[in-house]
Amino acid sequence: MIILGIETSCDETAAAIVENGTRVLSSVVASSQDLHKKYGGIIPEEAAREQVKCIIPVIEESIKNAKGITNIKKIDAMAVTVEPGLIGSLLIGIEAAKTLSFAIEKPLIPVNHLIAHIYANFINSQLDNLKIRKLFPALCLIASGGHTELLLMKSHQEFKWLGGTRDDAAGECFDKCARLLGLGYPGGPEIERAAKLSTISYQQSTISLPRPMRDQNNLDFSFSGLKTAVARFIEKNHQLSIINHQPLIAFELQEAITDCLVEKTLKAAEKFKPKSLMIAGGVGANTRLREKFKKNTKIELFLPPKNLCTDNAVVVASRAFFNFKPVPWRKIRANPSLKLNT
Ligand code: KG4
Ligand code: ZN
Repeated sequence: MIILGIETSCDETAAAIVENGTRVLSSVVASSQDLHKKYGGIIPEEAAREQVKCIIPVIEESIKNAKGITNIKKIDAMAVTVEPGLIGSLLIGIEAAKTLSFAIEKPLIPVNHLIAHIYANFINSQLDNLKIRKLFPALCLIASGGHTELLLMKSHQEFKWLGGTRDDAAGECFDKCARLLGLGYPGGPEIERAAKLSTISYQQSTISLPRPMRDQNNLDFSFSGLKTAVARFIEKNHQLSIINHQPLIAFELQEAITDCLVEKTLKAAEKFKPKSLMIAGGVGANTRLREKFKKNTKIELFLPPKNLCTDNAVVVASRAFFNFKPVPWRKIRANPSLKLNT
């Protein structure tokens, strides 16, 4: 089955064509990141304006690039992100998908963006549906710009929420601290790059950031205190140049965030004894986080390709294949709520 996926929940406009949930025929991602770099974050209205301009060209390119697909009628179904996300952005993908579904008379499957992130683990994995089921229950860590959640995936339809952030998301913490340090947007890759420069100076480092909620007997996270700690450090040491401190703070911040993510995830693994551990979301692209999981995980570990960790439409099409529940286009609505509806 060939599914066209559409994703516009945040600042990306993406379309992809995926066969049987695992084989990518094409994937196109257009981002308005350059625009947001100027402000160190996303301006929803600006993001939506860019998405209106590029949604049709992006869909058109995904069809042109897909081998064996000569025109849009060759697809079997369509899938679109309907929640959670920025309302103006979500609506652009949804209205485009509804219009196409009406015009070409193909079924349309609404998809939850967060759950879709998990499916990055199945792409090109050579795993068919039967083998994937053997990996359940799977413990999933979803760490993105808007979410940090631990879920137990019992099947493609059944998810149990285990814990999550009480305030900022892990990616949000990277982004906000990068801004404090005068680094670019998105902050995660910038902090990762700056941290790599710190190997020599770290030995003499005096900065030590907290690991919030580390010792608490729950599966929750908190990242807003880290941002405050970084701000205080910069204030206190204002006589020293920020540029000199960038690598040092970036290194310690990356250590603190990844320690919190890894420790709570392993605690959940101990408690729920899952068959596998799946990492998902933009922060999942972080090399240090991946190293720590590789070193410490005793069950089967899945780390998606880095380009599928951040927002894309491949995972939307994949999720729709494994949870094939078409809804008449008239009944499809955007749900911007941050609450995790599974
Ligand atoms: O999943 P995603 O693309 O969008 C959301 O659904 O939010 O995640 C974006 C987040 C941003 O906060 C970005 O800074 C972070 O993922 N990110 C990273 C890395 N690449 C992206 N964080 C740490 N290390 C990275 N290499
Ligand atoms: Zn995302």
